[in-house]
Amino acid sequence: MKRIGVGIVGLGTVGTGVVQLLAQLPQFSIEGVAVRSLDRQREVDLPRELLTDNPFSLLENPAVEILIEVAGGTDPAYRLAKEALLSGRDLVTANKELIARHGAELLAIAAGQGKTIAFEAAVGGGIPVISTLHWGLRANRISRVAGIVNGTTNYILTRMEKERLSFGEALAAAQAAGFAEADPSADVEGRDVAFKISILASLAFRATVDVEAVYRQGITSISDLDIDLAKEFGYRIKMIGLAQPTPDGRLDLRVHPMLIPLDHPLAGIDGVNNAILLRGDAVGEIMLTGPGAGRMPTASAVVGDLLNLADSIKAPPGPETSRALSILPVEETLNAYYIRVQTRDIPGVIGNLGTAFGTHGVSLHSVTQRGVASNGQATIILLTHLVQEAPVLAALAAIEKQPTTLAIGVVLRVLV
Ligand code: HSE
Repeated sequence: MKRIGVGIVGLGTVGTGVVQLLAQLPQFSIEGVAVRSLDRQREVDLPRELLTDNPFSLLENPAVEILIEVAGGTDPAYRLAKEALLSGRDLVTANKELIARHGAELLAIAAGQGKTIAFEAAVGGGIPVISTLHWGLRANRISRVAGIVNGTTNYILTRMEKERLSFGEALAAAQAAGFAEADPSADVEGRDVAFKISILASLAFRATVDVEAVYRQGITSISDLDIDLAKEFGYRIKMIGLAQPTPDGRLDLRVHPMLIPLDHPLAGIDGVNNAILLRGDAVGEIMLTGPGAGRMPTASAVVGDLLNLADSIKAPPGPETSRALSILPVEETLNAYYIRVQTRDIPGVIGNLGTAFGTHGVSLHSVTQRGVASNGQATIILLTHLVQEAPVLAALAAIEKQPTTLAIGVVLRVLV
């Protein structure tokens, strides 16, 4: 049997899983593995001579036919990806940042070379969402992609809710379990989700999108009080990537936590699991769910891509790289809102808030007061009806200036 030579860049959580899976697949031979530090203790047994700390040296080895990049980041991944394709290799990558930022260019290079970039592992860990968009839903016009695509934030929000852990405790647990990015701010501030939802949007809407233009709000200002109150009102808070075309040909593409109605399928997704809801004109709504991060689920997607390549299964052409969709400014998006405001507890406070929203044409659905008057403060939670964001921001700017306001605690959008 002719074996297919692979080079692997990265031997962290995912790379280790890939090596473990490849040990069961005799059709592949590992020709070299690039690591950051040659001296580190490893969980897999690899002959010392296969290891290198120079990833580019893998491309000097003619036995390497496919390069697997599971190191993350864009430096040197971008240069490496380009050189791999230009030197006639196929590329399998789990790198969402690489594909979100440079996918259009790399796909064009790959097409010119008759080579493939496979990136199933870049979104949703073990969930085959890329192949579902590539293959399964080809007959559809997609009108919405809404996903929980970051395992770390979903894990944090779930543990905060179920075990009353603080944000910091839950984050530390996610890091210990190997779900979080090297710099977890990419998870909790939504950059990871922005990469992933941009990739999904470019496939779903067959166009390029500018990931830098995606609006992001992280989860760091969500308190356990918000989680409790949301539940009382009939919602759970989830970090969401949302992409939907607008009637005027733009794209509503954003990343932020959202209140999800308890009976919505996304509300039931717990822990490190991810879920991606896809709405197509023919199929209706489907939701794919499963482990969205972690060693073996992500390795499952990487090695699945590798097996497809070995069988000469090439993904259909991805996005039309010449068609760019412009992103709707967040002020123009339509949402219902959950707003928590810290105020003085004196007569007229609720009237002041109501006046600010009323003056800007924002209709309120409910107003609830929490907290005790003993410290002279009140926590007021407002839910609005569906409204454009711009007047909500104008009302909040007015509220910020009211003498009865102490602070605007958090503003969250509600999924409708
Ligand atoms: N940090 C990412 C997550 C890893 O938590 O989902 C998978 O991309």
